[in-house]
Amino acid sequence: METMGSLRRTDYCGELSLADAGREMTVCGSIARARDKGGIIFADLRDTTGILQLVFDEDTPRDVFAKAESLKSEYVVIARGVLRERAAKTDKIATGDIELYVSELRILSEAQTPPFEVRDDVKVGDDLRLRYRYLDLRRPAMHETIVKRSQICQIVRSYFCENHFCEIETPTLIKSTPEGARDYLVPSRVQPGHFYALPQSPQLYKQLLMLSGFDRYFQIARCYRDEDLRADRQPEFTQIDEELSFVDENDVMTVNEGLLKRLWKEMLGIDIATPFPRLPWDQAMARFGSDKPDTRFGLEIQDVTAVFAATGFKPFADAIAAGGTIRALNAKGLADSLTRKNIDKLGDVAKTYGAKGLAFSRLTAEATSSSFEKFLSEQEKAALYAALGAETGDVLLLVSDTDWTRACTALGQVRLEIGRKYGLIDPDKFNFLWVVDFPLFEYSEQEGRWMAMHHPFTMPHPEDLDKIETDPGACRALAYDIVLNGVEMGGGSIRINDPALQDRMFRALGFTEEKARASFGFLMDAYKYGAPPHGGMAYGLDRMVMLMLKKDDIRDVLAFPKTQNASEPMSGAPDVVDPKQLADLRIAMMPEE
Ligand code: AMO
Repeated sequence: METMGSLRRTDYCGELSLADAGREMTVCGSIARARDKGGIIFADLRDTTGILQLVFDEDTPRDVFAKAESLKSEYVVIARGVLRERAAKTDKIATGDIELYVSELRILSEAQTPPFEVRDDVKVGDDLRLRYRYLDLRRPAMHETIVKRSQICQIVRSYFCENHFCEIETPTLIKSTPEGARDYLVPSRVQPGHFYALPQSPQLYKQLLMLSGFDRYFQIARCYRDEDLRADRQPEFTQIDEELSFVDENDVMTVNEGLLKRLWKEMLGIDIATPFPRLPWDQAMARFGSDKPDTRFGLEIQDVTAVFAATGFKPFADAIAAGGTIRALNAKGLADSLTRKNIDKLGDVAKTYGAKGLAFSRLTAEATSSSFEKFLSEQEKAALYAALGAETGDVLLLVSDTDWTRACTALGQVRLEIGRKYGLIDPDKFNFLWVVDFPLFEYSEQEGRWMAMHHPFTMPHPEDLDKIETDPGACRALAYDIVLNGVEMGGGSIRINDPALQDRMFRALGFTEEKARASFGFLMDAYKYGAPPHGGMAYGLDRMVMLMLKKDDIRDVLAFPKTQNASEPMSGAPDVVDPKQLADLRIAMMPEE
């Protein structure tokens, strides 16, 4: 191994072009691939910006050529030479028309053969990738994602700073408060038996910053939630978090449309049209069966309850008698693809989301096969066909349920499955949408009480203030989500800034006065000293990067992600700790159940 000596980088591989030919320069990085062709050696040098071919031949100084002969993948080198036009050009790499003719080479670090080849086109198992993440991150595609993520953060920072926002860090050892997901807890050594929580979001602190007079805040904030993981969920993730004073929900949405417009333009060169459509929650559920509709395709759901008002078909009649609903969609022209077998698979999807079943009519040129039409009157059938615009070649799919949300959701998932499976979604589209007017409360069977759908500080819709006690289920919130291509990229709300209204909310959520004081007393007190109207939102940065760069797995946009069971295979976290550490914390393990 050698040192750099007096050699220092003058250029980055990926930034060079034919315009630099003839110039002497020094570059450094790792060897991506070395090929010894006898009298001539080629080595691809990879740095954080790209790849440059190094060349050595019989005119190369002997000692340098000898070192080049020993080069292997992942050796770390620094090389000086003259850049020249390449004889055999390639368009496989951005610098395919140039190469560095090396006159001085220093091998700064040798490398063992890595457990997998550091290339994009080699398939590697997740376990190995995460265990050797530092090698995985050298792969150009992974590397580029992480670099782009950094660029996204820079644009976010510039945009907010240009718009009167102040970047402020908030604590990550905080008080555990009820509501939301499960907290990660951190024991206090100096106060045995007392615990901090890691923040699920900076929510309370950012509201307090508005009360502290900062007017507009943002933070690229780390958040922690002990919840089940999915392809777009991590136990620790990052939010682009913001809060603004003296605004209503439209102001927040407008500022954020500006941010997204800037991001898409600067990162992808795409002009997105603003303002984005705004869809009330109940319409999103009714038409798409989801509070995060993918509007890249139609296949909208319709309410056909009225068609069956006097039906003799028992499942539908029972649902209607119990105050339920019948929802339907017309998979237009898909009768050939949606065979009986495939319809059964869709039925399984509906059942996974709580539906009792999926009624269907498959209208082929030869015949109609249907699970329910034989129970309908001619009149009902005609009315159904008219409502859905049914024609030969279509497949009609229906869900009946006593519960409106369940019926919509189940058919919404069927809609998505059809969209994905039968090529109805244009992957190049970016369809932004605000879903607004979320319900203020949702009832939890498990808790036996109304819970805040967003969080307890969300401002009720002014038209619904008188229903908080009498009809909580009908109250809407000044809450909004930003949805992109069917993914909830972010969300927020206008907050309550009136202590009396906040008290009513806590009571509606089943908090006793003592419990509300114990959990949120500091916030309630703060509101007594003058509170500007305020609201804000937070994006999942990881989700934003995923959507922008079209990655399917959140782990592909994080340098060091966690696995399904919330562990980090490279370092081995979480791990057992020294018994002394536990003793210091006065913590004893309970026997396993
Ligand atoms: P919310 O809980 O909706 O709102 O979170 C905001 C956004 O954060 C992302 N997100 C996640 N990303 C990855 N892994 C997770 N486990 C995860 N959980 C959430 C989502 C989501 O839209 N304080 C409020 C915001 C506000 O009212 O200002 C909040 O945290 O993209």
